[in-house]
Amino acid sequence: MKLSTNFSLKKHNTFGLAAVANHFVEVETQNELIEFLKNSPLKKDLKLVLGGGSNMLLTKNIDGTVLHVNLQGVCIKEDAKNYVIVEANAGENWHKLVLWAIANNFGGIENLSLIPGNVGTAPIQNIGAYGVELKDVFYSLDAVEIDTGKIVSFTNNECNFGYRESVFKNEAKGKFIITAVRLKLSKPPHQTQINYGAIAQELANKSVKNPTIKDVSEAVIDIRKSKLPDPAEIGNSGSFFKNPIVAEELANKLSEQFPDMPVYPATKGHKKIAAGWLIEQTGWKGYRKGDAGVHKNQALVLVNYGEATGEEILLLANTIIDSVDKKFGIKLIAEVNLI
Ligand code: EPU
Repeated sequence: MKLSTNFSLKKHNTFGLAAVANHFVEVETQNELIEFLKNSPLKKDLKLVLGGGSNMLLTKNIDGTVLHVNLQGVCIKEDAKNYVIVEANAGENWHKLVLWAIANNFGGIENLSLIPGNVGTAPIQNIGAYGVELKDVFYSLDAVEIDTGKIVSFTNNECNFGYRESVFKNEAKGKFIITAVRLKLSKPPHQTQINYGAIAQELANKSVKNPTIKDVSEAVIDIRKSKLPDPAEIGNSGSFFKNPIVAEELANKLSEQFPDMPVYPATKGHKKIAAGWLIEQTGWKGYRKGDAGVHKNQALVLVNYGEATGEEILLLANTIIDSVDKKFGIKLIAEVNLI
């Protein structure tokens, strides 16, 4: 267990925000984590559990303890004829796991290439891209209950996954720390998913006819690199807002008025609308004030060009929410966690 005081979190959040935590505790094994939860006097001030820091906006300094879960390790739990169950510890980098799966010819997460963040946070928001969500390959996870230090497992059903949603954003919020995630990945022949977004076009541009999982991963990487800023260069947290799910009547009314508006199917009686389009139409794409801005290639991504504060980004987000609401009557909801 490593302990630091008055610790800057700048390197621990992909927005690159310089919030300071009174106490920063790093645990590298499940036993260290349980020891912290059962015996550490700092536990009573626990304010934030941090993985890769890729889906949060730190709006202020943290007056208390930040716990950094840095459990490493990947292994194969079950090796069957057509599939494997892979177990990855929470602190593993997500994209590194994707590359490992591809190198071993295990399929299912190639569309989720290059998503920033760690394995342990992937289930919380059910990460998704290009027609695949974590829930499609998720098998189970282990978590430690914060109150008791007890290890609890969750099956796919028990996680109650939805669009950028899970039990860990709802009933179980703030109650568990995820320590390991198990995925069920395919062995060849793989079923690749290339019908969503720009993947098929990207593969055609490269003259790839029967794509392997590696081809799909490379196509996704190229598309993401062309649209989304690399957090190592410009601070960001991916999509800042969720794509809003609205009543079908409102979607139909807006479609008549704005025939180009991208609309996707959703639950019965609802439609999903592209938030990036709504934000661009409201004039925010490429906007910058100080170091806080809206990315020039993807309006759904808010960025920190260097020294922006969390408060400035939050102010920008709230101003965008108000102006989209005024123009379209839709209230955008943040996808990132506001801390
Ligand atoms: N659009 C615009 N202007 C913009 C951005 C998008 O008009 O500035 C339009 C696009 O032209 C397209 C539609 O909106 O017609 C959808 O855009 P895109 O395919 O880029 O996807 P998205 O809905 O903006 C979602 C996920 C991304 C994921 C992509 C690809 C959410 C909140 N975001 O974005 O996830 O990579 O689909 O599957 O669901 C993330 O969660 O951090 C993330 C990047």
